[in-house]
Amino acid sequence: MVKSQAKADYDTVISEHYRKVAESDGLSSSSTMADNITRSTETEAIKEFVAAALERRMQAGDTGPATIMDVGCGNGYTLEILSEQFPDHEFLGVEKTDELRTLAITRFESNASVDIIEGDIRDSNLSQGRYADILICQRVVINLLDPSDQRDALRNIKETVKVGGAMLFVECFESSLSRLNEARSEFELEAIPSAYHNLYLEDGFFDVDGVSPHSLSSYGFDQPSNFLSTHFYVTRVLHPMMTKGQPVKRNSEFVNFFSSALRPASGDYAPLKLVVLDRI
Ligand SMILES: C[S@@+](CC[C@H](N)C(=O)[O-])C[C@H]1O[C@@H](n2cnc3c(N)ncnc32)[C@H](O)[C@@H]1O
Repeated sequence: MVKSQAKADYDTVISEHYRKVAESDGLSSSSTMADNITRSTETEAIKEFVAAALERRMQAGDTGPATIMDVGCGNGYTLEILSEQFPDHEFLGVEKTDELRTLAITRFESNASVDIIEGDIRDSNLSQGRYADILICQRVVINLLDPSDQRDALRNIKETVKVGGAMLFVECFESSLSRLNEARSEFELEAIPSAYHNLYLEDGFFDVDGVSPHSLSSYGFDQPSNFLSTHFYVTRVLHPMMTKGQPVKRNSEFVNFFSSALRPASGDYAPLKLVVLDRI
């Protein structure tokens, strides 16, 4: 069950933040992610992950529709892309914020393969008794502003996945933010703090019982954990260093050029990382 004490501490901050996001961004792809390259790189990695997990499942003899779950699905942007790409499967979006959930429900009004339900990752029954073959959790655990709630949520999420299934987390890590800030300090750029509505994870957060490092590489998934490192170096170090004193423009030509011209996953400068695990 959700711990009521922890809920009272920070729930208003989080729900108010996402209520405003729902109001300002509606069904847009920029909802919860204003950086176009980060959004599209995440989406490509998620599609590659789902394709590999489905391939492994099929080769293991399971050819029926898989349940693909997106916890903290926001306005349903990622689920829509997945349901178009993998039309033979069933999708479940779990979302706590009323306003974002309402948007997601609207998005799938005429798509019977996608269900959207209310749920909280701090709740052991977060998916109302349904289990995932494949689970995605995209920038959600970091919205729990208490480390003990984060650990509870990981346990709940893991237990929502069937043994033999796969899960992908896109979450932020404190140590990579420190490295990014070290790189910024070389050019006398101020340290970037994490957002007020986020608590970044410690290294080793995902070292828990009941999961193991994924074995999806042989099924076509080859994204490294630091998949956004170069892009973060370009947007948070190179660009501000060149435009010192001016407000940094999002999605600029400068960033588009360098983020695509350079090798994509160089260094450890992106707090936002991929973690792929098998449920054992
Ligand atoms: C950064 S947004 C990401 C949304 C979506 N995954 C996307 O990429 O667009 C985080 C999402 O987690 C949801 N969320 C926050 N706390 C939650 C909780 N305790 N349980 C379930 N969802 C939560 C928010 O409402 C929001 O939709």
